[in-house]
Amino acid sequence: MNKIIVGNMKNFMNFDEVKSYIAKIKLEKLDNVILCPTNIYIPYFINENIKVGLQNFLEEDKVCTGEISPIQAKSLNINYVIIGHNERRKNLNETNEVINKKIKIALENNITPILCVGEEFEDRNNSKEKINIQLKECLKDIENKENIIVVYEPTWAIGTNQIPTRQEISDNISFIKDTYHNIKVLYGGSINENNIEKLNKIENLDGFLIGKASTKLDEFLNIIKIVENK
Ligand code: PGA
Repeated sequence: MNKIIVGNMKNFMNFDEVKSYIAKIKLEKLDNVILCPTNIYIPYFINENIKVGLQNFLEEDKVCTGEISPIQAKSLNINYVIIGHNERRKNLNETNEVINKKIKIALENNITPILCVGEEFEDRNNSKEKINIQLKECLKDIENKENIIVVYEPTWAIGTNQIPTRQEISDNISFIKDTYHNIKVLYGGSINENNIEKLNKIENLDGFLIGKASTKLDEFLNIIKIVENK
């Protein structure tokens, strides 16, 4: 199976940078890559036939200024959404309960949720327990989990240049897969062109979520090449 690569572009890049990024990336064939740009840039990526996902959307069908509804996403043929990223949990107090609602509404609209879970640094030795609580609450009352992608992202590895050992990643991925069969699991957190080769050797992984490095096009293409063994 081809590995999935999610680019989480967060709120990096100004419009000039985005334009030159798109001019180059549209020349590539990126079948297994899902790019999640900042909302205001999304139409520029869609027009270029790049697989696009959202970084977030509203958890229910209600009116809310500043938000994006799943129905709007669907109307642009957007088929992926990142849900429960730690930056949203931490900065915007997004709870597992809200995340659960978002996953449900994504699935109702045939949008694949990319659910982020992971432990804090002080829980590193207890990671399975922490992930288990998050998964239980975020996936509550969801029968069909086949169309959900989970990203294991220890919070202490996001944007810090610190990553867990390969053994730790592999153990946590196996734990998630053993608990929830048929679910795809990616790793995310401080991936770059220097560490991807080693990370790519972890056998039970279905792919990667790449933050900052996905906004540096040469580095990102290099990472993709290594993951796809080209
Ligand atoms: P990073 O971000 O690759 O910049 O650490 C990962 C993420 O978006 O969670």
